Amino acid sequence: MLSSPIEEIKNRLDILEVVGSYIKLQKAGQNYRARCPFHSEKKPSFFVSPARQIWHCFGCQKGGDIFAFVKEIEGVEFGDALRILAQKAGIELKRQDPKLKTERSRLYEICELACRFFEKQMEESSVGKEAKSYLLARGIKPESLKKWRLGYAPDVWQGLSDFLTTRGYSQEEIQKAGLGLTSEKGSFFDRFRGRIIFPIFDLNSQVVGFGGRVFKSDDPAKYINTPATLLYDKSRILYGLDKAKVEIRKKESCVLVEGYIDAIMCHQAGFENAVATSGTALTSFQLKILKRYSDNLITAFDMDPAGDSATKRGIDLAQAQGFNIRVVLMPEGKDPADIISENPAEWQKRVEDGKNIYQFYFDTTFSRLDAKSSQGKKDIAKIILPILKKIPNKIEQSHWIQELARRLGVKEEVIEEELRKTSVVLPETFQEEEVAPPLSPKSRREMLEERIASLVLKNPVENFRLIGEENLAYFSPKIQNILTGKFVPEDADFVDYLSLKREVEEEEIDCRSEIQTCLREIKTLEIKDKLNEICRELKKAEEEKDSERADSLIQQFNQLSNKLLNL
Ligand code: GTP
Ligand code: MN
Repeated sequence: MLSSPIEEIKNRLDILEVVGSYIKLQKAGQNYRARCPFHSEKKPSFFVSPARQIWHCFGCQKGGDIFAFVKEIEGVEFGDALRILAQKAGIELKRQDPKLKTERSRLYEICELACRFFEKQMEESSVGKEAKSYLLARGIKPESLKKWRLGYAPDVWQGLSDFLTTRGYSQEEIQKAGLGLTSEKGSFFDRFRGRIIFPIFDLNSQVVGFGGRVFKSDDPAKYINTPATLLYDKSRILYGLDKAKVEIRKKESCVLVEGYIDAIMCHQAGFENAVATSGTALTSFQLKILKRYSDNLITAFDMDPAGDSATKRGIDLAQAQGFNIRVVLMPEGKDPADIISENPAEWQKRVEDGKNIYQFYFDTTFSRLDAKSSQGKKDIAKIILPILKKIPNKIEQSHWIQELARRLGVKEEVIEEELRKTSVVLPETFQEEEVAPPLSPKSRREMLEERIASLVLKNPVENFRLIGEENLAYFSPKIQNILTGKFVPEDADFVDYLSLKREVEEEEIDCRSEIQTCLREIKTLEIKDKLNEICRELKKAEEEKDSERADSLIQQFNQLSNKLLNL
């Protein structure tokens, strides 16, 4: 019998599946490794051990089980992590447990109920059915309507809010979920009215917000969205990523579109690695999340190399973060949804023909300006130089400098000189260096003790003999327990950590000599500490003119120094 939902969840979910649904993992022997999602690093020091069902980053020293991981990566409390993982494991948590009823979990419930309400309206109300026909006529298939849980918000003031109130949620909670508003006169009403509803999901496919598109009204706002709530922050969410993440990893690329409908149509046409930015510029949060899945972006935006649009700034940011970007060329006035609904094969071809972004910037600029006239050359350089200046990789930059020199018919040195004079505002990530791991570093002594303990764990009886009973006193009580095989249940996590550490560090090492070397260093450190202590004492004794004590200290000093030499 499993005693708690925690154990039951751990039993049902594999750590590789949980962690792997957030970040790219690579097999490394019996473990898996990745660049740590919790601190910035170039060399991967984040490890997952399927055998022990733990993870640990040897850079920032964070680690633990699946719950610790979800807490950390979703930025939530334990109760929320439990709920997320329970859902994933298909386990129902007891409803009444008040600890788990955080404010967030109430909001999740409201969003889920609202989503069901809108879905039902689309199926059953007469205008809802019209909205459905409209979407079908635009080329969205019935199974896509279901998969993306599209719905309809009736054109009344209190539809959803009445429904939620009868289900026991207060107006305050409905407002906090972003679904209701209070008018100046004090009456409460629905935010989404007479609109086609696109639920917005988090990475675990839980509804956290909504987008609503006008339907049959002349409201000037084509789309309205959930405002910022405890669950929904538009700068951190990409529409469709929950459904695209596995495919992004598989295809090693992510197609970025602007609209909800574009994303849905892409998936329907077999491009399940597509996500939508919902018409706003990419933020560095969104890019950090995408980076967990792939370094390659394929954009299908309107983009003007000369412009200073929000879109272009988002793309600059992506370049600064080291993404490889290809651009899908779009016919004038059409978006991906239009192309796909007319002819999915054409979309496929356009994605395959996606151009390197610098090639794209060159081609658009050169096609518009005259590269033969001196004014034309100047104008072209004015657009292209700031772009070249921002290429983070020097080799790639040098390639495009050559290309610009060639196409303008000038010397490379000239371009280089002009490039030096070009000033650009670097996107924020340009200045971002590798961040130092946050936790306090372990002392050399601690590291040596841990190393020996991890070697002993590999082969307890034999390796313990290499240390010898008489040397136990050199170790901290916690390590002593491990060395003698007497560790208590509280140390289980520490033992797991030590075993993983040893696995990820070594290929083949000679345990005997390694243990001996570490032990010698521990002894050296200990003796040096004592010698320092004696020196301090000696100074005091001399100040106090206590010659007897001074003599005895000198004697001790000599003995210890000899011991140090003979180690
Ligand atoms: P259709 O016009 O029905 O094809 O929808 P679409 O999703 O393709 O919309 P469009 O290409 O016009 O805009 C792209 C995205 O920008 C939309 O999906 C929205 O996320 C966002 N957007 C467009 N218009 C508005 C608006 O008026 N307000 C807000 N907040 N977002 C908008
Ligand atoms: Mn569109």
